[in-house]
Amino acid sequence: MCGIVGAVAERNVVEILLEGLKRLEYRGYDSAGVALLNDEGDLKRIREVGKVRKLTEAVERDGAPGSTGIAHTRWATHGGVTEENAHPHFSSERVAVVHNGIIENYVPLRKSLSSQGYTFTSDTDTETIAHVVHSMLDNGNSLLEAVKKAVTHFTGAYGTVVIDKADPDKMVVARSGSPLVIGLGLGENFVASDQLALLPVTRRFIFLEEGDVAEVTRRTVTIYDKSGERVEREVVESTIEHDAGDKAGYRHYMLKEIYEQPAVIRNTLQDRIDNLHNVDTLFGHGAENILKQVNHIQIIACGTSYHAGMTARYWLEEYAGVSCSVEIASEFRYRKSVVHENSLLVTISQSGETADTLAALRLAKELGYMSALTICNVPGSSLVRESDLAFMTLAGAEIGVASTKAFTTQLTAFLMLTLSIGKFNGLHEETEQKIIRAIKTLPGKIEEALGTAGVIENLAEEFADKHHSLFLGRGAQYPIAMEGALKLKEISYIHAEAYASGELKHGPLALIDEEMPVIVVAPNDELLEKLKSNVEEVRARGGIMYVFADVDAHFESDDTLRVINIPHCEDITAPIVYTVPLQLLSYYVALIKGTDVDQPRNLAKSVTVE
Ligand code: F6R
Repeated sequence: MCGIVGAVAERNVVEILLEGLKRLEYRGYDSAGVALLNDEGDLKRIREVGKVRKLTEAVERDGAPGSTGIAHTRWATHGGVTEENAHPHFSSERVAVVHNGIIENYVPLRKSLSSQGYTFTSDTDTETIAHVVHSMLDNGNSLLEAVKKAVTHFTGAYGTVVIDKADPDKMVVARSGSPLVIGLGLGENFVASDQLALLPVTRRFIFLEEGDVAEVTRRTVTIYDKSGERVEREVVESTIEHDAGDKAGYRHYMLKEIYEQPAVIRNTLQDRIDNLHNVDTLFGHGAENILKQVNHIQIIACGTSYHAGMTARYWLEEYAGVSCSVEIASEFRYRKSVVHENSLLVTISQSGETADTLAALRLAKELGYMSALTICNVPGSSLVRESDLAFMTLAGAEIGVASTKAFTTQLTAFLMLTLSIGKFNGLHEETEQKIIRAIKTLPGKIEEALGTAGVIENLAEEFADKHHSLFLGRGAQYPIAMEGALKLKEISYIHAEAYASGELKHGPLALIDEEMPVIVVAPNDELLEKLKSNVEEVRARGGIMYVFADVDAHFESDDTLRVINIPHCEDITAPIVYTVPLQLLSYYVALIKGTDVDQPRNLAKSVTVE
C-alpha cells in the first residue's frame, strides 16, 4: 500500500527520495509527493496524482534541492485521489508529515483542531497528525517531544515521519501498526516503509518495533519504546539483492517472477530438505518440542497465502496425521473461535505485514495457542518478529502485485512442515523418502511446466473477449483452481470463480454455456475418473473446456475441449506444478487485454490496513 521514504543528509536528497518511491511503486498507489527542507530552512512541497514518473518531471521542472526530505506514495483510503489529498501534509507551512495507516479517531480530532484554528486543506486522516504535532510544538515541545505526545492522541495505525521547518536537520518517526525501517548511512540516515526503497544507499537497517518513536539526524538515531524508555535496537545487514527491483529483461516483474520459480524453490529447499530431522534449525529454536506435541493446526492467512494454507491442509491431514483448519484472517479475528488443545497457529504471508494476519496472530496469542509459527518471505517483518517460530521462504523480493513465486515457495515450505510433523506421528519412512524424492524433482518439473508457455500464449487469445470463467479442481487441486481464478481476475479483470468440481451439479452447472470458459486442473491422481465425469457434465451442457492434464490422463482435444499437457509429477507435488501454467494463463490473457500487469487497478502489494 502507501510507501514512505525519508532522508537527512549533507547532500541533496531529492534523487534518493524519488528512487526510493520508484522502488515502492510495486506496492500500489494513486498519487505521490515529496517535501524538501533546504539549508535556509525553506520548505517546498510537490505532489502529483498518478505515477512517480509524473512527480519526477514536476520536481525537475519546479523542484528545489533539500538536505532533509520526506516522500510518499498514497493509496487512497480517506478522501479521493486528488493532489490536495496526496502526502506530505502540512500544518501552516511549518510541519510536514507522511503517513501510512489509518488514524481512526480523525473525525473528533479534526473537529477539535478546527476549533483551535487549524485549517484543513485535505479530506485525509493524515492531516490531523500534522496539526496535532504543530499544536504540541506551539506548547514549547521539541519535535521529538511533540511527536511523542502527539501519538498518544491517535487510535488506529500509523507509520509516520515528521519534519519541522524550524528544526531542519532531523526527522522524527513513529510506528504503530505500520512498518518503518531506519537505514543507516555515513553522515546521513534514512527511513522507509520497506527496506527495498533504501537498498541503493544502505544495507544496514534498524526495524522499528510497535510503539517506537525515533529521532533521526545525520549522525544519530535515538529510539524510544512504547513506554518512552530509550532503547537500542539491533542493526541488521540486509541480504536482499540490490537489483531485486530489476526486470532482468522480462517485460513484466510478474513474468520474471513466474520464471524465477525453479530457482527460488531450489533456494528454499537448499540445505533444508536433507536436514529435515533437525527441526529446530528449520523452524526456530524450540520447534522440535512444539511440533512433537501438536494435536491441531490452525492456519490463518489472506488471499493467495490463504490458498497455500488450503492446499497444505490436504497434506497435513493425510501425511502428517494432524487435524487442520484454515481460515481467512479477516474472519478469524472477528469471531469467537474454539482453541483445540495443543494447537499450533500457523500464519502465512509474503510480506509479513498484512494487517488482518498480524491482528489474527495477536489475537491467537491472547486465546492461548500453544505456539505460533509463521511462513513468511520477509525477514524482520512484523509477523516474523512476533511469532515464536518462523520458516523463511527464500523467494527474494516479489514486486508484481499478483503473488506467484511467493505462493509456490509457501507450498514448498508446507511440504517440509508436513514431513517434520509427520515424523512425530508415525509417517512411514518409505512414504517420507518418496515425498522427499518428489520435492527434489520440483524445480525441474516447474521448468518443464514453463515449457507450456507458447501453447498457453496462443490459447489466451480465446479468453480475451470473455467476461466470466469457471475454474474446477478436486482435492488439493481445488485450492489451486481458486488460486488460478484469483490470478485471472486480479490481472485481467475477467470474472473468475473456482469450484470443487464435485459441487458442479449443486449450482454452478446453471452457468455453463459457450461464453463461459471452464478451466479444469486434472493431474493423474485418484480423483481423475471422478473429474472426468465432471468434464462430461460440462460437455453435455455445451461448455468449452481447457483441461490442464497429466500426459497420462488420456484426455483428447476436440471441438469443445482443449488439452494442455503438463509433465507427469507425483500427486503430492502436483498442486505446485499445476499452479505455474495457470499463472501463465492469467499473464497472457492480461497482456492481450492490455491491463497493468504488475500493478493491477485498485490493488496494493502489502495490505497494511484493514
Ligand atoms: C494475490 C495476492 C494477495 C496476497 C494477500 C496476502 O495475488 O498477492 O491476495 O496474497 O494480500 O498478502 P501476504 O501474503 O503478504 O500476507
